[in-house]
Amino acid sequence: MIGIESLSLNTLDYMSANTIHELYRKTSVFLDALVHREYLYLIWGLSPTLFRILCRVTGYKNTQIYAIYQKLYYEHFARIDEKNLVVGHFEANESYDYEKYLLKPFSENTKHIIALDFGCGPGRMVRRMSKFVNRVDGVDISENNITKAKIYTKNIRSKTKYFVNNGYDLAGIPSDTYDLVYTTIALHHIPIHKTRMNLIREFLRVLKIGGQISLQMVFQKNLKKLPPGHSFSCWRENPYDANGTNGTYDVVITPKSLKQVREDLRYVGFKNISFNLALPPVSKEVGLYDNWIFIYARK
Ligand SMILES: C[S@@+](CC[C@H](N)C(=O)[O-])C[C@H]1O[C@@H](n2cnc3c(N)ncnc32)[C@H](O)[C@@H]1O
Repeated sequence: MIGIESLSLNTLDYMSANTIHELYRKTSVFLDALVHREYLYLIWGLSPTLFRILCRVTGYKNTQIYAIYQKLYYEHFARIDEKNLVVGHFEANESYDYEKYLLKPFSENTKHIIALDFGCGPGRMVRRMSKFVNRVDGVDISENNITKAKIYTKNIRSKTKYFVNNGYDLAGIPSDTYDLVYTTIALHHIPIHKTRMNLIREFLRVLKIGGQISLQMVFQKNLKKLPPGHSFSCWRENPYDANGTNGTYDVVITPKSLKQVREDLRYVGFKNISFNLALPPVSKEVGLYDNWIFIYARK
C-alpha cells in the first residue's frame, strides 16, 4: 500500500481526475447499455470474469474474447462522445504534427499514395491525411465510429472506403492494395501481443510490395514512473484478462522491447525497420507517457 504523503500533488491530481473520469465513463456506459439493451456489456461491467466465462463456454478463444470486449467498449463510447471518450485530448491531438511523422518514410511526392488508417475512429486523421495523399481508407472495430467518420469526412476529396473489422484481422480488405498503412493512438490500446501480431501480419498482406507501415505507439524509459494503478503490458505479453483498453490498459514499448519489436516485424516479413521517438501531444503533467514512438518498416 502506498502512503498518501509519499504521493506528489501531480499524482493526486491525476488520480482524482482519473477517478471522476472513470466514474463518469462507467455511469454513462451503464445507462447507455441499458437503453440499448446491450446486456453483454452490462455483464462485463458487473463482472469481467463472468463475461469471459460466458464467452469461453460459447466457444470463443482468448484473443476473440478481448476483441469482443473492445468492440462493446468502443461502440458505447462512440455513441456517447466520440471526441473525448474515444480519442481523448482531442484538441491536443489535433494540433500535433502527425503528418510529419506518418509520412516521414516518403520523399516529397506523396500525392500518389493510397493509405489505410487502422483504428481510424471518428475519422480525425483520415480527414487530415487526405490533404496529402491520393486516397485514405479507414478501418475500425466500431461501427458507430465508422458512421461518425463518414459524417466527419464527407467533404474530403478522397473517395474513402470504410471497413469495420473484428478486432484481430482485416478480413474483407483486399491484399496488395496500399502504399501506406498507418495508425495513431490505436495500436497501443491493444495490450495482447498475439492480436497485434495478427494485425501486423494483416498490414503486410494489404500492403503493395514496397509499401510502408508508420505505426504510432507509446514509449516509456522507466515503467516505474507510470502513475500507480495504471495497467499496461510489455510488448510480448498476452494479458488476456486485461480489464481495460484505451488508456486504462495499454502496451508500452520500453528500451528493452525495441529489439523484440524489430525481431517480430522481421519475423512477419517486414524489412527496413526503424524507430522515431517524439514528444507526445499531451504534456507529462496531463498525459501518461514520456514519448510517442513511430515504428516504420517496408514490405
Ligand atoms: C483513441 S482512438 C483513436 C482514433 C483515431 N486513430 C485518432 O487518432 O483520432 C482508438 C481507436 O482505435 C480503435 N480500435 C481499438 N482497438 C481496435 C482493434 N482491435 N481493431 C480495430 N480498431 C480498434 C477504436 O475503435 C478507436 O476508434
